[in-house]
Amino acid sequence: MPYAHITGWGKCIPPASISNDEISEIVDTTDEWITTRTGIKARRVSHVSTAELASVAAKHAISCAGVDAKDIDLVILATCTPSTVVANTASLVQKNIGATGAAAMDTNAACSGFLYALQAATAQIQAGMIKKAVVIAAERMTWYVNWARRDSAVLFGDGAGAVVLEAAETPAGLLGTKTGCDSEDRDILHITNFGSNLNKYEPIGPSDLLFEGREIFKRAVKGMSEACDDVLEQANLKLDDIDVLVPHQANLRIIQAIQSRLKVNDEKVMVNIGEYGNTSAATIAIALCEAVEQGLIKPHANIMSAAFGAGLTWAASYIKWGERVTPIAVSDATLPPCDKTGLELVAPAVKACKDAEPS
Ligand code: ACO
Repeated sequence: MPYAHITGWGKCIPPASISNDEISEIVDTTDEWITTRTGIKARRVSHVSTAELASVAAKHAISCAGVDAKDIDLVILATCTPSTVVANTASLVQKNIGATGAAAMDTNAACSGFLYALQAATAQIQAGMIKKAVVIAAERMTWYVNWARRDSAVLFGDGAGAVVLEAAETPAGLLGTKTGCDSEDRDILHITNFGSNLNKYEPIGPSDLLFEGREIFKRAVKGMSEACDDVLEQANLKLDDIDVLVPHQANLRIIQAIQSRLKVNDEKVMVNIGEYGNTSAATIAIALCEAVEQGLIKPHANIMSAAFGAGLTWAASYIKWGERVTPIAVSDATLPPCDKTGLELVAPAVKACKDAEPS
């Protein structure tokens, strides 16, 4: 059975950001509260679509792998903020990156989406159905934010990450995985005012991210830790064998709690929530890319990754890195310039959300 090596990695970070002090001008909060309760210092706001973020991240991953986009068999995009639903967003990404021979599909498992997509693409390679895939996670979470509510407005950001998978004979890539979904409690984390359940002939109003923060916090720590334990057992690994932990970035305190349960030292944990906030499915894709760029991931590293999100979906993955930690080539793909600040970009949405609040 072939393995699915990660041979390319890339990201797309939109340039405009909103700091904690700036978000305090929108909702009743403070830098001190956000930093101590979440570890977040800033979040990015995209001036372009999810498809554009995804396309730039994918182009970087493809150049990094040194493959021809025309040879890619599958484009899979994990997102809960698709630019369009019909046609799917992955089809536009496929067009943008020139992967003309590839199947294209969107997948939605919220914050667990990247690990779900990685599993799906790996399984197709292992089954011999395809040879090369690009797995992307891209989100515009700020599109959902209700800027009148401080509990969710401070948490989320936009961005994208991608990896290229290629069939190979030596053991590397996704070597252990466990995914699941606690659907009984799916209502404790959801987005309102979106979907075909709505009566579209009536005014809908702003969407809102509703969640029971403390409950999600506890479940995320338990769910991700237990999934990691299962994957370690499945892969016949000990805790000491983990070289790098790449967790979903929803809250620094959640990351620290998992780290402590798994007894992993600080220097082995990839943390970038401070700069980006929670970018849902994209957090792990971006963090994986930055862990290689920063030298945290070394040749043949044992990487453990875990995610938890709406559904309530969860996933843990054991990834064995290959030999190469440097790109074969570097793409010059960039986003179009952004002439607005983060606050300017969200200003119309802030006004609409505040106008919609009951007085
Ligand atoms: N600024 C200031 N005060 C705030 C803010 C804010 N932005 N948000 C909430 N508060 C207040 C609350 O009103 C409350 O005040 P009260 O005690 O007077 O009622 C107080 O802070 C404590 O609120 P809690 O919700 O208990 O705060 P907590 O410490 O649990 O932190 C948080 C909230 C950050 C959401 C945390 O529970 C968490 O990270 N949960 C898990 C992650 C999550 O739910 N993310 C949503 C996406 S899902 C995912 O990514 C897995």
